[in-house]
Amino acid sequence: MTDLLVVAGARPNFMKAAPVLEAAGRAGLSSALVHTGQHYDAALSDVFFAELGLPEPDAHLGVGSGSHAEQTARIMTAFEPELRLFDPAVVVVVGDVNSTLACSLVAAKERYPIAHVEAGLRCHDFFMAEEINRRLCDHLSTYLFTTSRDARDNLVSEGIADERIEFVGNTMIDTLLRSADAARARGAAERLGVSAPYALLTLHRPENVDDKRILTGLLEAAEEISAEIPIVFPLHPRTDARIDAFGLRGRIDRSRIQVQPSLGYLDFLGLLADSAFVLTDSGGVQEEATVLGIPCVTLRESTERPVTVEQGTNVVAGTRREDVLAVAQVALHREGGPGQIPELWDGRAGERIAARLAEEIFALEGTATANA
Ligand code: UD1
Repeated sequence: MTDLLVVAGARPNFMKAAPVLEAAGRAGLSSALVHTGQHYDAALSDVFFAELGLPEPDAHLGVGSGSHAEQTARIMTAFEPELRLFDPAVVVVVGDVNSTLACSLVAAKERYPIAHVEAGLRCHDFFMAEEINRRLCDHLSTYLFTTSRDARDNLVSEGIADERIEFVGNTMIDTLLRSADAARARGAAERLGVSAPYALLTLHRPENVDDKRILTGLLEAAEEISAEIPIVFPLHPRTDARIDAFGLRGRIDRSRIQVQPSLGYLDFLGLLADSAFVLTDSGGVQEEATVLGIPCVTLRESTERPVTVEQGTNVVAGTRREDVLAVAQVALHREGGPGQIPELWDGRAGERIAARLAEEIFALEGTATANA
């Protein structure tokens, strides 16, 4: 029997899962890794395995893309036999992607305890796929590991028992702190022909990039900002496709906005660390920018990570052109202050999670032996 069956499927999962797997071994727990294949491009998956030192997955479900229903259903169908085969003491899921919810549903129905890493985040926009995923997953989980104190309040207000919740810190930041020197040493900016100062732009949320009006407004804002500072823009495959579909490619001034294919983890982190500021609709980048002290302009109407606003460098700008421009001006002139590092974002979250799960699993094994 495996102690932990860890699930990862999409780009942001890999950095969150790596510290748990690493710490599990040190805590004396056996573990296996399942890759659902939600992300399958080398740039969204393989490069993360190589750079994060993740082991080869013990099972690869190869589900690929599809509508939410298709993708979720395929993951569930493929995960069920693997779950029975590995028969773990605990299923560990991370973040809020479709893989997280799909595997949680299967595990709950098969009566396996679930540990959710990054539990309790809420942006209160229930139409957003990730909000649906994280809410449902939290309610199915036995162990809810949180990254900030506000997450506990969210969970308790939804009726989740306090004793299931543990504030452990942020495993994505464990990975960042471990990788920051290597990321800087790679000299991504130099290799890509980018010289400081520059701003970084990332866009991939369907709410932004699948809506022609919003995407056009955001690209127009980028265009205006780029008159003051050059922008580096690594493209997620979804965004790349939408820019073509909406006929917007010609609207990007390539002399001021450097468009890149999706970058690997270390190159992106290196570019972020040396940037003047970042414009993004990603959740993880808001956290990474906070820890690196880089001003972050969030291109969304809300955030599930308020600690990055209250303590860190993040400002939620919304998606209207004028609002983005106003907040970008503050970031450009570094008027927002350096911010502070949130509590327990100290590189030891994976260790705390593994310690708690080891305690639970060893206690259960002790009871089983005593009853045998
Ligand atoms: C998913 C997550 C999102 C996360 C993001 C990081 C959900 C609901 N969303 O969004 O929370 O922030 O990952 O990237 O789980 N595609 C490729 N190659 C791939 C994977 C996808 O080209 O390896 C393209 C396909 O056209 C696909 C589209 O990207 O249809 C979207 O992929 P999908 O996995 O559905 O969601 P993301 O937008 O990547």
